[in-house]
Amino acid sequence: MESRSLGRLIRCEGEVPQELSDKARTHVPRVEVQSPVKKGEAVTVRIFVTEHPNRPDHHIEFLDVYYEEDGRQFNPIHVAHVRLTPEIVEPYVEIRIRPRASGWLHVVAYCNMHGLWEAVRRIEVRD
Ligand SMILES: [Fe+2]
Repeated sequence: MESRSLGRLIRCEGEVPQELSDKARTHVPRVEVQSPVKKGEAVTVRIFVTEHPNRPDHHIEFLDVYYEEDGRQFNPIHVAHVRLTPEIVEPYVEIRIRPRASGWLHVVAYCNMHGLWEAVRRIEVRD
């Protein structure tokens, strides 16, 4: 099954600069989650952004988590929104989710200078 993107999150005027792929390393959120998951069990999702500045003028402002559940008529489910205060909070969160069915986890990081960056992970739920 193929993941569908939530949309074209990163927009640049004109040609995509080399800087965009360089920036991906420090903006695309890292997501650690177990898969497969046993139906009914909770699983920890660890989300972090590495090597990114954390100053008031340049920081990761929030993390959003969505779940695109297989077979659900209306997707995605908004799972979490975490707003981060620069300097005193690192862009690192852990949440516990209890997926009811297999699906795609979408994690979005917003940098106040460089926009939205998305990571996608597949979670298989087994009986
Ligand atoms: Fe940035």
